[in-house]
Amino acid sequence: MPVPLLDLHEQLQHLRREILAAVTEVIDSTCYIMGPRVEQLEREVASYNGAAQGIGVASGTDALLVALMSLGVGPGDLVLTTPYSFFATVGCVLRLGARPLFVDIDPITYNIDPALLEEALAEDSARTARIKAIIPVHLYGQCADMARIMPIADRYGIPVVEDAAQAIGAACPMVVNGRKVWRRAGSMGVAGCYSFFPSKNLGGVGDGGMIVTSDEDFAERARIIRVHGGAPKYHHGVVGGNFRLDPLQAAVLSVKLPHLDKWHRQRRDNAELYHRLFSTVGLGDRQVRLPVAVYREAAADEAQEVDYHIYNQFVIRTAERDRLKDYLLAAGIGVEIYYPIPLHRQKCLLDLGYAEIRCPESEKAAAETLALPIYPELTDAMQEEVVARIAAFYAQGR
Ligand SMILES: Cc1ncc(COP(=O)(O)O)c(C=O)c1O
Repeated sequence: MPVPLLDLHEQLQHLRREILAAVTEVIDSTCYIMGPRVEQLEREVASYNGAAQGIGVASGTDALLVALMSLGVGPGDLVLTTPYSFFATVGCVLRLGARPLFVDIDPITYNIDPALLEEALAEDSARTARIKAIIPVHLYGQCADMARIMPIADRYGIPVVEDAAQAIGAACPMVVNGRKVWRRAGSMGVAGCYSFFPSKNLGGVGDGGMIVTSDEDFAERARIIRVHGGAPKYHHGVVGGNFRLDPLQAAVLSVKLPHLDKWHRQRRDNAELYHRLFSTVGLGDRQVRLPVAVYREAAADEAQEVDYHIYNQFVIRTAERDRLKDYLLAAGIGVEIYYPIPLHRQKCLLDLGYAEIRCPESEKAAAETLALPIYPELTDAMQEEVVARIAAFYAQGR
């Protein structure tokens, strides 16, 4: 039985009537740029996230770019981030003429390592003075260790822009005024950036993105930059761009948002089933390392369900990654590598003098990780097939 990495048909089938009605309403309204549908989604996403404001933009990439522009990042500045992410995380830094300062990842979560972050900031005070932002990425749908990252960033007075492109709704425990609270990805830094790329847990029918923030001044700057820096219209005190969210996408996303928690739950259930199936076939950590949900236990203590991981991706790790990938693809199992080349090894960065940079954990992860199908509508039988094929691969090699 073939198992695709992602199949959106069933989700679409469930919501097709509502989505078409929402799209038709936008078309009939003749309001095609910004307007009430975008504003509605901004309110809904901000409220879902626990932030005060949402600023709809054209993509997750634009969310990051506008956030950095709103902080005034430019030539000569540094932005500290992880080398193990999608290119947009660093592309937005480079496009502004700034340079990334890479801090390696924690090999368990694949998120930026807070201890290395602290070391990097303490290492060279002149360099640290040039760091205008820190971008932690909540990779695969699990929050970076924000309980440690935020106090470090605050101590140095450096704003944090969360790349929450893969993690809308994911929560992690923080201590606020001596009390443990769960905070959603994107609500802890000065800004959080979401992507509504179709493969995300909340995906549009094309590109879309949003910045969430509770900082009013930041929000005002971002809103101005989103429309060419015009405030009032046709008066340009700063250079912005056309970063607007399409109301057709906003309309579709508003239909989907009420279902998001259910989809997160289904993905978590699928992850649990993978763990049981892998242990049934006797594939231990030596052959395949399964993802570790580091906030799962803390979430189990809560009376209410917590989105401790939203599993935008379910990523396993194995020394035989490339052979396993080819084997599974040949067997009709959809798998993908996120990401095969860490950012500091990308040619455009090597050309900028990053050839000497070493981030060994990111390099190892890039050589060993493989994403399996995890979308909500995946059936138990499909998951059994995926694990059976992986078991067959290892049986063959014995
Ligand atoms: C971690 C990360 N950052 C940024 C982005 C950029 O988002 P978009 O594709 O919506 O521009 C993505 C999307 O793939 C992502 O996964």
